[in-house]
Amino acid sequence: MGAFFVEGNLTLATDGWDTFWSSATSDEVLVAGDGQRNSTLDRFWREQLERVAADARVIDVACGAGSVARQIVQTPALCVGVDLSINALSRLDQLEQGITPVAADSSSLPFPSQCFDFVFSQFGVEYAGILGVLECSRILAPGGVLKFLSHCKDSSIQKSVARDLLNVNLTLTSNFFPAAVQLAQALSSREQDQINAAAEVFNPAEQEVRLGAKIVPDNFAGYTYLGLQKLLRQWEQHEPQDVISWLNAMRHEAESAAARLTTMQSAALDDEALKEINQALSEAGLPLLEKREVASVETNMLLAWELSQCQ
Ligand SMILES: C[S@@+](CC[C@H](N)C(=O)[O-])C[C@H]1O[C@@H](n2cnc3c(N)ncnc32)[C@H](O)[C@@H]1O
Repeated sequence: MGAFFVEGNLTLATDGWDTFWSSATSDEVLVAGDGQRNSTLDRFWREQLERVAADARVIDVACGAGSVARQIVQTPALCVGVDLSINALSRLDQLEQGITPVAADSSSLPFPSQCFDFVFSQFGVEYAGILGVLECSRILAPGGVLKFLSHCKDSSIQKSVARDLLNVNLTLTSNFFPAAVQLAQALSSREQDQINAAAEVFNPAEQEVRLGAKIVPDNFAGYTYLGLQKLLRQWEQHEPQDVISWLNAMRHEAESAAARLTTMQSAALDDEALKEINQALSEAGLPLLEKREVASVETNMLLAWELSQCQ
């Protein structure tokens, strides 16, 4: 891994994003059902990025693994990707796309004012709220372009975030993990009394997850529930400690997913939030943001808000 700049006393991401980037199977945050890149987003950014001039200085704010910046065809004079997650930036760095990774919080960007010609963010700047937008606006050079695709309330993404959050939370609030660990310990003791006592605690928790969550292999509760069922069926083939380690890892994953999904929900903008952002921009003497709704080309459902600054 190459070196990258870390701004001052950076507090590492604790909201689940760093864990997400350490284990994500894709470098894209939002993929279609078949695991492919999202065609609506690709089309949107292709049109924006076509206009990037060879001498432009561009920045992808809250870039993750550079899903957007990686689509720039003609290498600009300077291309920076900023994110709070070191794991995201390590991925970006490994992809070697000529994007300079910078670890920083979007609410305090370590760049002089007016030093970028194109400032953009996909599902990122809104995590830092008003301060993030003010910072992006501050670093934009006169005549430059500022373009965000942002989470918005009532979008199809937010609906699926709400479903995922309910599903993950169920595994955490139902006593499922502690009861499953207790059961694994009892099974390994081979003491029937201990097994019966542990099963009495585990069964209601198991039932709560099974009845409350939609148990399909590709949602979290389903994956965990079915995974545990399989382990219990083939109990003799596993070391008890491995089963307990797996359960602890799944619990950690559930906690970090719940944190990440919660920040995704609270980052989503509505008209009131946009009004507050524009109020802050106006007070700082900066141009306001204009919104346009972006719908999925496949489903026609609301996907995001396009936010642009009118120069
Ligand atoms: C939904 S992901 C989007 C990543 C990327 N833009 C993409 O579309 O693939 C949100 C990203 O914002 C980053 N992030 C969250 N809060 C941030 C902050 N205050 N400053 C910088 N990055 C932040 C997370 O680490 C994560 O990589």
